[in-house]
Amino acid sequence: MQHYTDRSGTEQLREHIATTLRRARERTTALTDSVDEAELVAQHSRLMSPLVWDLAHIGNQEELWLVRDVGGRDPVRADIDELYDAFKHPRSDRPQLPLLDPAEARGYVATVRDKVWEVLDRSPLRGGELVDGGFAFGMLAQHEQQHDETMLATHQLRTGNPVLSAPAPPAATTAVRGEVVIPAGEFTMGTSTDAWALDNERPAHRVHVPAFAIDAAPVSNAQYLEFLADGGYDRPELWSERGWSHRQEAGLTAPQFWEQDSGGQWWRRVFGVRRPLRPQQPVVHVCWFEAQAYATWAGKRLPTEAEWEKAARYDPATDRTRAYPWGDSDPGPATANLGQRHLEPADIGAYPAGASPAGVHQLIGDVWEWTSSGFQPYPGFRAFPYAEYSDVFFGGDYRVLRGGSFGTDPVACRGTFRNWDHPIRRQIFAGFRLARTLDPREA
Ligand code: AVJ
Ligand code: FE
Repeated sequence: MQHYTDRSGTEQLREHIATTLRRARERTTALTDSVDEAELVAQHSRLMSPLVWDLAHIGNQEELWLVRDVGGRDPVRADIDELYDAFKHPRSDRPQLPLLDPAEARGYVATVRDKVWEVLDRSPLRGGELVDGGFAFGMLAQHEQQHDETMLATHQLRTGNPVLSAPAPPAATTAVRGEVVIPAGEFTMGTSTDAWALDNERPAHRVHVPAFAIDAAPVSNAQYLEFLADGGYDRPELWSERGWSHRQEAGLTAPQFWEQDSGGQWWRRVFGVRRPLRPQQPVVHVCWFEAQAYATWAGKRLPTEAEWEKAARYDPATDRTRAYPWGDSDPGPATANLGQRHLEPADIGAYPAGASPAGVHQLIGDVWEWTSSGFQPYPGFRAFPYAEYSDVFFGGDYRVLRGGSFGTDPVACRGTFRNWDHPIRRQIFAGFRLARTLDPREA
């Protein structure tokens, strides 16, 4: 996000907010108009909300923050706040709630959005922490896009005829292999200046990271297949104790959505379409325990969150921490597979223009990358504007994921952006890359 200070800057910011909110709504509409009413209210998985819950929840959050708080206006529907409070009802119970039906939910989000346009027109976009730099509007655009990614995961879980389509991701144009050494030293982690960064990304702080090596690419399907072929799922010594008992209980034998035919050929189900497994595509739909077992098998480990961010942002030539691996310019079709332009990760080597100066590829986009780190506040963290976004999750049974996936919109993906989930979850678009502590002679 650039800084918008003068008057024309404020009008540019207003236009940028409008474009960003419209883009989110187009995506929400596409994800919810692509299935019939029965499918909108159905439970496609106990891990997910019915799509119609996400839809009205998007509107309700927009109402709470932009219409009532920023706008100071009367409620549109004060009676439904409780239904759409994520902390009041677990996802598995949401189909049983007296939810707005699809037509009501569509009408509700449209009414709220009309009021948001009026609030946006009148906001000075400065003069208060919530509106400075358009923060609250940016937060709600990110919120909607995060739920859009969640709805995309629901689409991946649904059975029935395929309803989503998109062009295939770009082909690889460069060979990417091996690992890259990142020398020991301090870098600036997190941000205090990005106007739309969320509370858990703040503040910027110096972190010393010992020398380490990180793989130039995420782990591919071909590499993951070798782990399978080598008995990876049958060797408890490769797994943590918790990981092994989960592997046993859940009956894990391969990444979610993988299928092997009688001839031994592997396939992957992608939004209702069975496709041959692409060897050079980053592996996706693995949980943290699977990632960890693979790493042990490979003689490596997952990167810490600080290692991941240093590899993604630190430029040794200028000694500066930048927004993205390729610099400070916004992500685009040449640098990263983001924004649901495609419905799967691109092959390794498809985004040479998105590599870091040291040669680490595809850190942003394609697949969320599991790190070894738990979700903790940075030194100096302050919950803003609500504790339920991050604060209540710190120290829980979560692992941090970084970098965004093909289903993450650029507004909700930065070099500083932090995602988190339980170590057993694999319906999210998550893969991983490996790192290694350097021998003192290598460092
Ligand atoms: C940051 C993706 C873990 O979906 O639980 C959406 C985002 N927070 N509504 C989630 C979020 C409130 C959050 N994650
Ligand atoms: Fe939410």
